Amino acid sequence: MSGRFVTVDGGEGAGKTTQMGFMREYLERRGCRVVATREPGGTSLGEEIRALLLGHRDGGMALTAETLLMFAARAEHLERVIRPALAAGYWVLCDRFTDATYAYQGGGRGLSLKRIAVLEEWVQGALRPDLTLLLDLPVATGLARAGKRGVADRFEREDVDFFERVRAIYLERAAHEPDRYRVVDASQSVEVVQAEVETMLAEWLESD
Ligand code: TMP
Repeated sequence: MSGRFVTVDGGEGAGKTTQMGFMREYLERRGCRVVATREPGGTSLGEEIRALLLGHRDGGMALTAETLLMFAARAEHLERVIRPALAAGYWVLCDRFTDATYAYQGGGRGLSLKRIAVLEEWVQGALRPDLTLLLDLPVATGLARAGKRGVADRFEREDVDFFERVRAIYLERAAHEPDRYRVVDASQSVEVVQAEVETMLAEWLESD
């Protein structure tokens, strides 16, 4: 079976990491070779950029700088990990991708979505995920879960309105591209979400 590009996205506290682990196991059981990775990050330079993006600093970060750093990490990730893995027949399972830039820098911070589309085109060319799992849940529920994880990073410190805008963009994008997205209600228990994710993956594999 040839490689596919699957991304997992959603707001804070949606349980992406846990579900990514289940998805990896499920795909491997079905005979797929999987590379699991994340954004921002996934390469040594990408992880350094991640630390710059998530760390706190006096005066914050200009939105253009933040967006370009996201795409700089992505360019490195695509060239060194994602494209070679897909070419070698691996499934790439990526924790967040460009949908997060539309949601966080676009929705959350108010950057023009057209600007993001220009960078997407430049950095990715025609490459888009084959499938995107959106783990959706009410903002308050997600923030309560994320709040239990320790010190908040630069994004986790944002307010409820910011995350409402992030969620709205994710849902808008999912509604516009139903072929690529599958939306799962992540406010349910881990077991129920896992079962729904497996059913979704099984159906998608059948139809692919
Ligand atoms: P994580 O918490 O899922 O590991 O992601 C790190 C943070 O980076 C998360 O708060 C969302 C944010 N982010 C963006 O703002 N834009 C992006 O393009 C990506 C990939 C992540």
